[in-house]
Amino acid sequence: MTSRKAIRSQGVDGLSAYLEKQRKLVEKALAKAMPAASARPITIHAAMRYSVLGGGKRLRPILVLAAAEAVDFERAENLPSILPAACAVELIHTYSLIHDDLPCMDNDDLRRGRPTSHKVYGEGVAILTGDALLTRAFALLAEITPAKRYPLSILLQETAVAAGSLQLIAGQVADLEAEGRKLKIADVRFIHERKTAAMIVLSLRLGAMIANATPGQLKAVTQFGEALGLAFQIIDDILDVTQSSQQLGKSAGKDLKASKATYPAVIGLEASRKEADRLTKKALSALKGLGSKSTRLAQIADQLLGRSS
Ligand code: IPE
Ligand code: IPE
Ligand code: MG
Ligand code: MG
Ligand code: MG
Repeated sequence: MTSRKAIRSQGVDGLSAYLEKQRKLVEKALAKAMPAASARPITIHAAMRYSVLGGGKRLRPILVLAAAEAVDFERAENLPSILPAACAVELIHTYSLIHDDLPCMDNDDLRRGRPTSHKVYGEGVAILTGDALLTRAFALLAEITPAKRYPLSILLQETAVAAGSLQLIAGQVADLEAEGRKLKIADVRFIHERKTAAMIVLSLRLGAMIANATPGQLKAVTQFGEALGLAFQIIDDILDVTQSSQQLGKSAGKDLKASKATYPAVIGLEASRKEADRLTKKALSALKGLGSKSTRLAQIADQLLGRSS
């Protein structure tokens, strides 16, 4: 069940309702996953809640849930440990966005349709908000009751590696160092695999591991995530060129201004589109062995390719 036609025939309407339902589930859990805005000091807790609860596609937590479904369809939502993991990846992702937007990094004023954290709370609090979200994510993961095959230490270790200086941070550092330099496409790929794909792969693996995936199932969702994650950042690069700030809820056209290392900058828009398409097909073919339980993952990949924000 990997052709585009077959995926769409499963009902894209069904997909919107599914995504909406998962988003609500995640947002309710996120609201409970952080200290109340009234906890002292009020500024930091208000700032955490401002960035985390202020919109976003919730792609990574939805992938945690969908990967668990792909492994064990009936029980996924009932798995008590799945929502803490879904929240943890969203907190790490949101922290990375807050820091990514800082004046010393991408210097952005707009995120998720609202002023960035440092614009509202100042740079000091924005930095500390990122620190607090990253730390809180590990506390949430520590609540997980792991499945037989994957002890908690593995889940924590994988998360630390994906968010660490060899993956997410590696990509962000290489992204900064690449500004204004002429890169080969392999170098841009190095950046994208780390700054973006690593957290997408982690989300899928956490979901699968909590649902006690077999080694074969875990391999399948990992390969799916590697291709999807790279495609996702290429599409982000394309949207920066082709969409308006209003449409994106973040400032458009900024990559060219900052001479960022992007796919369109190195191979052009058309070749970038083709590459995103090729990677999406690759992601879909990785799901073959998982059967119909992975329909949601396939539909999500298909939808992300055509997204406009
Ligand atoms: C933005 O991620 C940063 C990238 C890795 C491209 P998203 O496009 O998932 O942002 P939100 O969470 O929906 O705001
Ligand atoms: C950021 O990539 C990836 C992160 C790890 C936050 P971008 O810098 O392209 O993300 P946007 O366009 O600001 O969301
Ligand atoms: Mg950036
Ligand atoms: Mg940025
Ligand atoms: Mg971008």
